[in-house]
Amino acid sequence: MNSRTRTRNEQAVVRHVRLSPEDGATLDALSRDLLSAHGSSTAPDLIATALEQTHRLPTTLVEELRTLRLHETVPALVVHGLPVDDKRIGPTPLDWQDRKEHDESEVHEVFLVLVAGLLGDIFGWSTLQNGRLVHDVLPMPTQEKEQSGHGTVELAWHTEDGFHPYRCDYLLLLGLRNHDAVPTVVAGIDGVQLDQKHRSVLTQPRFLIRPDNEHLNQARVLVEGSGEVHPMQHMQDSPEPCAVLFGHPDQPYLRIDPVFMSAMPGDAEAAAALDALTGELQRHLVEVALDPGDLLVVDNYKAVHGRSAFSARFDGTDRWLKKAVVTRDLRRSRAHRGAAHERVLL
Ligand SMILES: [Fe+2]
Repeated sequence: MNSRTRTRNEQAVVRHVRLSPEDGATLDALSRDLLSAHGSSTAPDLIATALEQTHRLPTTLVEELRTLRLHETVPALVVHGLPVDDKRIGPTPLDWQDRKEHDESEVHEVFLVLVAGLLGDIFGWSTLQNGRLVHDVLPMPTQEKEQSGHGTVELAWHTEDGFHPYRCDYLLLLGLRNHDAVPTVVAGIDGVQLDQKHRSVLTQPRFLIRPDNEHLNQARVLVEGSGEVHPMQHMQDSPEPCAVLFGHPDQPYLRIDPVFMSAMPGDAEAAAALDALTGELQRHLVEVALDPGDLLVVDNYKAVHGRSAFSARFDGTDRWLKKAVVTRDLRRSRAHRGAAHERVLL
């Protein structure tokens, strides 16, 4: 963890908590136990029993996540101190599909599943990493210019899956390797200054957000030859107008992804309000370089996130994170899932 003094904005956006070495060791042992008992980090019975493990988790972790969830006091939290062994996790794969089954990194996925259980329900997308519930975020030689977790160009900050009505409430990122201290960037909505006119416009459904390429490309593959139109293609062709700010007027939630959104055609007032908010969020960005064993929890209704550009070596030493998304109410997306207990949005 960077020990320099943090600015007031940094403190307001990201809360840092450090687990003791004993707590870190407890979490590691628990993750290994659960993985050997259930055979897979995302086995349905492991996920189903995650909540029952609460009493075995460090009190600090449980209380911090409860406060974030219930009181929304900070938009992002970093929990430091999960032990990650750089040698044991092996080289950073060159492709998320290359990761070996049941490798050491799967132990750390169990930690994400446990944290997800304290916040809500972990879920996935059929259009991302084959519906996996825990993703590998790593640079891929064929994807360097993409706006995704596999690129190396600057990943413009955004609400996670902001185009989708059933996007996550929380985004979890766990650092496994980050030798170059590549920063993740975060900004919260609470600190921004907006005049009343802009604020009011931003609460009205005068904006369009379209899906990103990773979702859209895979959506096209999924329906290829079926004659069907994937729901994400609908969201691309005729996006539903949405508001950027919603919830409580004094402490609003936000939904924004400047690269993939615009004001409604011809609505100059909405475009100006979006520009004002974009500029303010940009001004309030905070950098967080996730070290091995650092967990970043982003409240996806209160904060945006992105990543700085970096150079990949593709020699097994590149940045490698694990990622999961969590909803507080899986039921809302029932029309997009095959069965009530299914966690993958089709
Ligand atoms: Fe993201």
